Amino acid sequence: MRRFQDKVALITGAASGIGQATALRLADEGASVFCVDLDEDGLEQTAKRIRETGGIAQTHTCNVSSEPAVADCLADCVRAFGKLNHISNMAGILRFDHFHELALDDFNRIISVNLIGTFLMCRAAIPQLIESRGNIVNAASTSALAGVPWAAAYAASKGGVLAMTQTIAVEYAGQGVRANCVCPGDIKTPMSSPSFPENVDLSMLQRCMSITGAKGPEVVAGVIAMLASEDGAHITGEYIRMDGGTLS
Ligand SMILES: NC(=O)c1ccc[n+]([C@@H]2O[C@H](COP(=O)([O-])OP(=O)(O)OC[C@H]3O[C@@H](n4cnc5c(N)ncnc54)[C@H](O)[C@@H]3O)[C@@H](O)[C@H]2O)c1
Repeated sequence: MRRFQDKVALITGAASGIGQATALRLADEGASVFCVDLDEDGLEQTAKRIRETGGIAQTHTCNVSSEPAVADCLADCVRAFGKLNHISNMAGILRFDHFHELALDDFNRIISVNLIGTFLMCRAAIPQLIESRGNIVNAASTSALAGVPWAAAYAASKGGVLAMTQTIAVEYAGQGVRANCVCPGDIKTPMSSPSFPENVDLSMLQRCMSITGAKGPEVVAGVIAMLASEDGAHITGEYIRMDGGTLS
């Protein structure tokens, strides 16, 4: 399938996990992919894998929570490829803390990458997406939908991403822009091996485990590809849970 022939896709978090799998998937389906992350080496590996199979990729090292860096990033993408049809915001961070011990700096850091980073990238991309009648897919999480122990800051950031995405969908529908979220859970990536605070009852995490077994990031990338393509043309303001039945 070449659903993204002549399309340009910008993917944040493209150095690892779900962002990397999404970059590979969209490139495989014909997109020119603009890969964005803080991790320069990881980005180069993603781009190398894309180019080795005949795909087109450019990289841009960027901290998504920096307003000037995001402005530079979007300008560089348009300079490189002339337009933007899709943006996937997959950059994110997670840490676990007892809620009563959660430091304000840590809370702010998580909000600043996961929520503010997504806000800045979406805001910067909107003019290009209006021009191309393009679309957005943001990474929310099952933690936006149900409680996850020790993850208050992360859950707050993802709840914010979900609400913001629905607002974008409604506000720009008339201009042909769609915006959706994926809500992954129990996906095997570097993020899924976090460290835990002391004195936690790990059995409480059973409520976050899938009933079908953990899966690799390609299962999320496939759904993002559907949402970003014409197959998702009638889907906006939606979230799709891919958690192997955790919240079923
Ligand atoms: N893995 C899961 O089970 C799961 C579940 C729910 C939601 N998610 C969400 O999916 C997205 C991708 O997660 P993943 O599992 O692939 O994690 P990952 O850790 O493999 O990848 C995250 C990427 O984001 C990048 N990043 C972090 N801070 C950044 C910043 N400030 N600027 C630019 N890049 C930055 C990292 O360098 C990394 O490459 C995240 O938003 C995550 O919250 C993942």
